[in-house]
Amino acid sequence: MSTTRFLTGITTTGTPHLGNFVGSIRPSVAASLTPGVQSFYFLADYHALIKCEDPVRIQRSTLEIAASWLAAGLNPEKVTFYRQSDIPEIPELTWLLTCVTGKGVLNRAHAYKASVDKNTAAGREHDDGVTAGLFMYPVLMGADILMFKAHKVPVGRDQIQHIEMARDMAASFNHLYGEHFVLPEAAIDDHVATLPGLDGRKMSKSYDNTIPLFSSRAQLQKLIGGILTDSRAPGEAKEVEGSALFQIYQAFATPEETEALRKAYADGIAWGDAKHLLLERVDQVIAPMRAQYEELIHNPARIEQTLLAGAERARALATPFIRELRSAVGLRSLVQASTAAKPAKAAKAALPAFKQYREADGKFYFKLVAADGRLLLQSTGFDAPKEAGQAIAQLQKDSAALQTLAPRLAPVDGVEAAEVTAALQALAEAAAA
Ligand code: TRP
Repeated sequence: MSTTRFLTGITTTGTPHLGNFVGSIRPSVAASLTPGVQSFYFLADYHALIKCEDPVRIQRSTLEIAASWLAAGLNPEKVTFYRQSDIPEIPELTWLLTCVTGKGVLNRAHAYKASVDKNTAAGREHDDGVTAGLFMYPVLMGADILMFKAHKVPVGRDQIQHIEMARDMAASFNHLYGEHFVLPEAAIDDHVATLPGLDGRKMSKSYDNTIPLFSSRAQLQKLIGGILTDSRAPGEAKEVEGSALFQIYQAFATPEETEALRKAYADGIAWGDAKHLLLERVDQVIAPMRAQYEELIHNPARIEQTLLAGAERARALATPFIRELRSAVGLRSLVQASTAAKPAKAAKAALPAFKQYREADGKFYFKLVAADGRLLLQSTGFDAPKEAGQAIAQLQKDSAALQTLAPRLAPVDGVEAAEVTAALQALAEAAAA
């Protein structure tokens, strides 16, 4: 199977701005439409708690970010779009990873080190004002990524270290307990522009120089009017180099349009006219999405429903996987046969299996057992072994056969349908590999 799985998270502390659109939302939506790609996008609201203690802001930001992504064309039928805090398996995995992560590794995380350096420079105690949440940030992020076996993680350069840490956590865990995790890689797109903000520095909420993505047209006009320019008069040639206005225009315009503006700069276009061109060009892209956004943001129930449906799909993977991981580390039933943590063995044992057998009643049965030995499916009795074999073959081929075979299956307590489906898919994938 050649599907590549992409996963990325968006921390829910702010209002999306044009820089987020150009740097993350637009390329992610485009990537999600590529054939052979499976995408997981989620709202990292547990991460938000690390930086933000304002519950109203967290909730509002979650709504705005979800509405922005959907308005920008993210199709929740095609991608798995969910809210981190709807997946209780993620904090559970965080703990398992915490126990295989060196404290020294976390000491070296850039964000944590920056806080320590700042304290040291100010003559304060090392960890002054640093929460354990900030310290643990990379482990929570590792759980986000490893839970869904992501191959590629599209992030900004400032996040590369976190992906490398996730990779190390996966490798340590696999080494100790068998091959359970995929080793992820950062995906950095060098073609994606970093947008300058109103003052010419990188557009970022920490610089307070942003243009919100879904400003009204009037607001947009006002903000664009405030973009820093030099004092060259109309008729004087202007520099495109270092012009925030030009760079923002370029991020929204075609190459031909960009060339035309470059020429207009050389010909001495007035700043007022250039700002007008920028307003029109940006608004042309934003206006159709803005209508969508307005509709969504006034309908939080619909977004809530979309996110819950996404969480359900995500959990169909996370629930059986965390069960497998718990069992791998030894958090398992006392009656289950103990297996040593031999990586090679564990890797092989990590697949569910069909078992066929004959009962005292003379009939032929089969069952599906999970990697950890738990019963997932139990058939009723067949008259001939061939019939049982055919039923197994059908299930191995397509988990949809569960429906047609339902009358031949006996209920199994405490097993969710999603888990059975996931087990069958894992078998099909292993067979195809
Ligand atoms: N730390 C990321 C950021 O600030 C957000 C994030 C949280 C994330 N979990 C993730 C990104 C998992 C990628 C994968 O941008």
